[in-house]
Amino acid sequence: MTKTYYIHTFGCQANKSDSERIAGDYQARGYQPAQSWQNCDELVINTCAVRERVEDRVRALVHKVSNYFQQQNQAKPKIILTGCMLHHGAEKLSKMLPQLDQVLPVGEVGFNHPAIRQDKDHAWVPISTGCNSFCSYCIVPFARGREQSRPMTDILQEVQNLVDQGYSELTLLGQNVNSWGLEKVGISLRKMLFDQPNFTRKDLPTNQSQYLNPQGKPPFVKLLQKISQFKQLKTIRFLTANPWDFHDELITEIGQNPKIDRFIHLPIQSGSNSVLKRMNRGYTKERYLEIVNKLRTADPKIILGTDIIVGFPGETKAEFQETVELAKKIDWKLAFVAMYSPRPGTASWKLYSDDIPHKVKKKRWQILDDLINKKNLANRPKIV
Ligand code: SAH
Ligand code: SF4
Ligand code: F3S
Repeated sequence: MTKTYYIHTFGCQANKSDSERIAGDYQARGYQPAQSWQNCDELVINTCAVRERVEDRVRALVHKVSNYFQQQNQAKPKIILTGCMLHHGAEKLSKMLPQLDQVLPVGEVGFNHPAIRQDKDHAWVPISTGCNSFCSYCIVPFARGREQSRPMTDILQEVQNLVDQGYSELTLLGQNVNSWGLEKVGISLRKMLFDQPNFTRKDLPTNQSQYLNPQGKPPFVKLLQKISQFKQLKTIRFLTANPWDFHDELITEIGQNPKIDRFIHLPIQSGSNSVLKRMNRGYTKERYLEIVNKLRTADPKIILGTDIIVGFPGETKAEFQETVELAKKIDWKLAFVAMYSPRPGTASWKLYSDDIPHKVKKKRWQILDDLINKKNLANRPKIV
């Protein structure tokens, strides 16, 4: 009988894209997709670790699955855990969740065949993996490793295959897409954070210092221009762009290139310069505003979205208020607002205590959600 698989995906677009590749590998090995985890032979759980609450949801799912089969008196499917929770290490995870049959890095679950895509018009195209940035709160560089740009020829080949299949909308994926082709050879984050006993925030490298300065046109702009040449493509999006290397050439290209979506997602994280400093984001709110103004000058039709963290260690009422004021000024049409969650092993976890009470975080979250998202509910921009 044909074996079946089911993939449960947590987390961001990068994970959803990875899961499509895992599905491709299963099908190439003769497996059929199951309708739910209740009736599959193999269950892949592709995890996220960006906040503690997400990890809790992953653990709850593993318990739910194993309890379900115990109650039914049935053998449970083979459970394979992959994705960003592997920052804990496979051994620790197997101890934490003994119900797991395997803990595998995403590349080892199966990544060697074309993706099976859910959508028929829109496709995700990864252009880089990992992250070389040093935002102090973030687990992603530990979970996904050093940043590595995918070669232009690989990307263009995938785009060719996609347009041949009739796709007309693409989203280019990477943790810092505008640095594509500019990353320096990554240094070991763990080594850096743990081998210096008296490490302070000032010892953190700047995000900019981890990337080369482009000579002339930035590689990402060249990539956008090449991809735009495919006649069949109508819309190109990218996720995530970051403010510290949002080059002027990129702004010009967005202004001139009608295939690039007018919705630009540009995470700010905080509207307060002192918080941005503690986050080690490497830009100020003034620089962010400068980018926004230039984008709107390049094309007044451009609309913006963002990510914001509330309740970062030490965030005062006045610092939070700066974010509120900036939100009013910029008029983002969409914001992913998150309550700060200390991630073991990161710089902010090491340097600062999580001193903003949950109640305060929640209140701040609500204020921004009302201000940005509630207001724009009716015409929420499409992010994929
Ligand atoms: N590379 C992207 C996205 C990173 S993760 C970027 O730089 O914007 C997605 C979002 O999760 C982040 O933008 C941030 O808002 C949120 N996030 C990351 N770590 C977090 C933490 N420790 N606590 C709360 N939110 C966090
Ligand atoms: Fe995390 Fe910063 Fe990298 Fe985004 S750019 S994944 S927030 S370290
Ligand atoms: Fe994405 Fe979560 Fe990993 S946001 S990169 S799946 S930690």
